[in-house]
Amino acid sequence: MKILVIGSGGREHALAWALYNGGANTVIVNPGNPGTAVFAENITGDPVEIAVKESVDLVVVGPETPLVEGIAGLLAQKEVPCFGPSAECARLEGSKWFAKKVMAAAKVPTATGKMFTNLVSAIDYLGQYPDKFVIKADGLAAGKGVFLPDTKKESDAIIEDLFKGSLGKAGTSVVIEQRLSGREVSVLAVCNGTDAVILPPSRDHKRVYDGDMGPNTGGMGAICPPPDVPFDFGEDVRERVILPVLKVLKEQGLEFRGVLYAGIMITEHGYFVLEFNVRFGDPETQAVLPMIESDLAALFLAAARGEELPPLRIKEGASACIILASGGYPGSYTKGHDITGTETVNSLVFHAGTAVVDDTLVTSGGRVLGVTALGEDIEEALEKAYEDAGKIEFEGRHMRRDIGRTV
Ligand code: AMP
Ligand code: GLY
Repeated sequence: MKILVIGSGGREHALAWALYNGGANTVIVNPGNPGTAVFAENITGDPVEIAVKESVDLVVVGPETPLVEGIAGLLAQKEVPCFGPSAECARLEGSKWFAKKVMAAAKVPTATGKMFTNLVSAIDYLGQYPDKFVIKADGLAAGKGVFLPDTKKESDAIIEDLFKGSLGKAGTSVVIEQRLSGREVSVLAVCNGTDAVILPPSRDHKRVYDGDMGPNTGGMGAICPPPDVPFDFGEDVRERVILPVLKVLKEQGLEFRGVLYAGIMITEHGYFVLEFNVRFGDPETQAVLPMIESDLAALFLAAARGEELPPLRIKEGASACIILASGGYPGSYTKGHDITGTETVNSLVFHAGTAVVDDTLVTSGGRVLGVTALGEDIEEALEKAYEDAGKIEFEGRHMRRDIGRTV
């Protein structure tokens, strides 16, 4: 099969690697990165034009923005199967309020929330207890749209900034919802419009420093599966969350074909969906895909065409992915530092923020590399991943030392 993967991060490197499947398929990545260039062809330019020109059998979309902007519809016009939902379905990620409404209709457990388009009523609603709520920009905000204020002063400032346009149009409608506490789990479901296959659950670690301190990042590491998550959790989420959501969408004439990612919190009172994404998680994908034994290309193609989904075979054991980031990330950081040691390790090394300059691999982003190892259990996977992560060096390299050890 000839497959086009859209994107350039660690998630897309992991997708391209899994779909390449040791040479069973031909993979093009648009635009790709130095890691994907090793086994795939990186092509820049318009993805729809590339898909047509290269006569690909399948397009797999990595990031959310092209999905929300309607790439699936453009590919459908050209009769190219697209693994990634239509713009209408992508509103599950593109509008927090749309997601809330679908969840209510599907009776999916989620935090109670309200939508506000007016500053005064939003501030009023938060009242004197802003620490009991979460403030979310309604629209896409590249991971910067969720706020957990501790004081009234903080929450007033957040709301004022949002309504002033700090996140553009994305933040001039906000959803304010009840704050929950518990353990977070990411569940990725491959959907064909009516049915779903659940990938093994995973856990991302979003804060930049050990002990869940410091600002949120795109994700500093991931494990799969989290050892504290019950064995049948994925199946329960399929029945109580994913299938009911597919049904509600279908009733609106929409077929979700792609990955539906449920960000879930397991609390003392059961589990709740915090958010949906309409694409693979990053870095979760870098931990989850290496755990899958079956042919992902066949699975994604069936989903893209709305056909029956083949069953999934998962490897025994567990996996861990450690992100090596640039010093200063998610704030400002310098680029262009030489990277050494990637060829000396046994683990999978997925590229996120790298570039090749004068034949030398250098840093070019905040999250630079993801180092993924498999093991008989999560401890063994972590041990191997950390051992190899330690062998890869670049100036300012930063990694968390407690991935998989905190919730
Ligand atoms: P993001 O992935 O950027 O949308 O951020 C979502 C993160 O915000 C989640 O991973 C949680 O840590 C946090 N979050 C979202 N909703 C809630 C909620 N209702 N209660 C507590 N934390 C939440
Ligand atoms: N790792 C979180 C996300 O991909 O949204």
